[in-house]
Amino acid sequence: MRTQIAVIDYGSQYSQLIVRRLRGLGYFAKLYLPGHWDDLDRPAAVVLSGGPARVNDPGAPDVDFDRLQSIGCPVLGVCYGMQLLNRKFGGTVAHCGDREYGPVTMDVQRPDALLKNLPAQSTIWMSHSDSVAELPAACQVLAVNPRGTPVAVRWNERFFGIQFHPEVSHTEYGTEILRNFLELCGEAPAFTMDRFKEQLIAETRGQIAGRKVVCAVSGGVDSTVLAMLLKETGADIHPIFVDNGLLRRDEGDEVVAQFGRLGLGIDRVNATDHFLGRLAGITDPEEKRRRIGDEFIDVFFRHAGQIELLAQGTLYPDVIESATSGSKASRIKTHHNRVDRILELQAEGRLLEPLAELFKDEVRELGAALNIPHDMLHRHPFPGPGLAVRVIGEITPARLEVCRAADAIFIGELKRSGWYDKVWQAGTALLPVRTVGVKGDERTYEEAVSLRAVTSVDAMTADWVPLPAEVLARVSKDILNRVPGINRVLYDVSTKPPAGIEWE
Ligand code: XMP
Repeated sequence: MRTQIAVIDYGSQYSQLIVRRLRGLGYFAKLYLPGHWDDLDRPAAVVLSGGPARVNDPGAPDVDFDRLQSIGCPVLGVCYGMQLLNRKFGGTVAHCGDREYGPVTMDVQRPDALLKNLPAQSTIWMSHSDSVAELPAACQVLAVNPRGTPVAVRWNERFFGIQFHPEVSHTEYGTEILRNFLELCGEAPAFTMDRFKEQLIAETRGQIAGRKVVCAVSGGVDSTVLAMLLKETGADIHPIFVDNGLLRRDEGDEVVAQFGRLGLGIDRVNATDHFLGRLAGITDPEEKRRRIGDEFIDVFFRHAGQIELLAQGTLYPDVIESATSGSKASRIKTHHNRVDRILELQAEGRLLEPLAELFKDEVRELGAALNIPHDMLHRHPFPGPGLAVRVIGEITPARLEVCRAADAIFIGELKRSGWYDKVWQAGTALLPVRTVGVKGDERTYEEAVSLRAVTSVDAMTADWVPLPAEVLARVSKDILNRVPGINRVLYDVSTKPPAGIEWE
């Protein structure tokens, strides 16, 4: 789809959020790295994001100002972007003493199209330590903070700057400001999921070019949407489901049945023995992940045979993270969609990633547009390494079964009580500690399970869910009565950070 709004990414933690907000307003926006927007064709507007660098430092990221001016579209500089533009127009930028972080009151000084429909005062969200100092003669100050520092300026007909973040929800009129800016671009909103879907199907069909497509499916949202999208192109597809034996109870059968209902036959490969063999005696979390990832690649490629074209459900956040490594938080977990064999296919033009321009919530929207049922699109996320990262310590068939049994009781109760859809992710971890208890007249010395239910937006942060005591009581009673080997049930009340959502 043609990029309507280009967001030049100077590395702010909020850059992706700008893109999401602009898409939410109906404009197809994409991130570009400074100096890497050669392929950008006639955007209707450009936004320069914030970032951690300081414009006065040697080597600070720059912008091709001549090109920016020659495009002839409206330009909005946000935070770092504003400071950069001020220098380009001949003004200066200085350190503003204390770092200004958090909510601040903005006073509108002058009516302007950018601040249309805003009250005289409103709350804005700041996060900066430099700000504009001298302004070029023609520059108009549109709004100031309580210190009198300009927080919104206009250099000329088309160039605007704001020192605050309109994309974060704490900026009271952030969406209005972005909408006002977009109105200046003279183009109507063109981004709807139905339109995007039609274009994506056509583009993907073109890329497939009659080749047979192999893809891995897990039953998760991304791979399900991917498979359905491929089906819509009319291509000859071979969806492979590697059952690693680390799934929840009955999950493998459910995945096969679900795809059946969607009219997609999937090729299930039962590789439980291979995976459990590789995991025997391993307790280190990263080593577990590495072995599971390697085994997955081995099983998948062995089963797929000669591949004409491989499709993967890589999403936009993954793409940006790998392209701008250094500007984002370093990756904590090992990822497997860029292993050598996949890179080789990519180099040969045999890798297809049709979801690579979409955020997670947009993948769900696309799934709905493809008529995938709600419950398939709103399943809780489940980690690739499955229960291996929830069975703490050594993984044995017996311990997996205990974890599975307790998990099935917990998830079943969440569904029955209506809590499943209210939590973002839930699961059960089996802990490698044995504690003393009593069952009947017998002393027991058995393991414990810990239940976890969290809310989250993007898995970067998470909060534990205060489930009602009666729900927890039912789960606890059922597990203690029905799962052999468990004599203690705990509820995890840790936020992320510092705790991970998973135990390992
Ligand atoms: P953490 O434990 O890092 O989990 O707070 C954040 C989210 O990522 C999922 N997760 C994984 N997903 N492979 C995956 O595909 C992994 O190795 C992995 N580790 C964690 C986790 O379930 C949560 O949703």
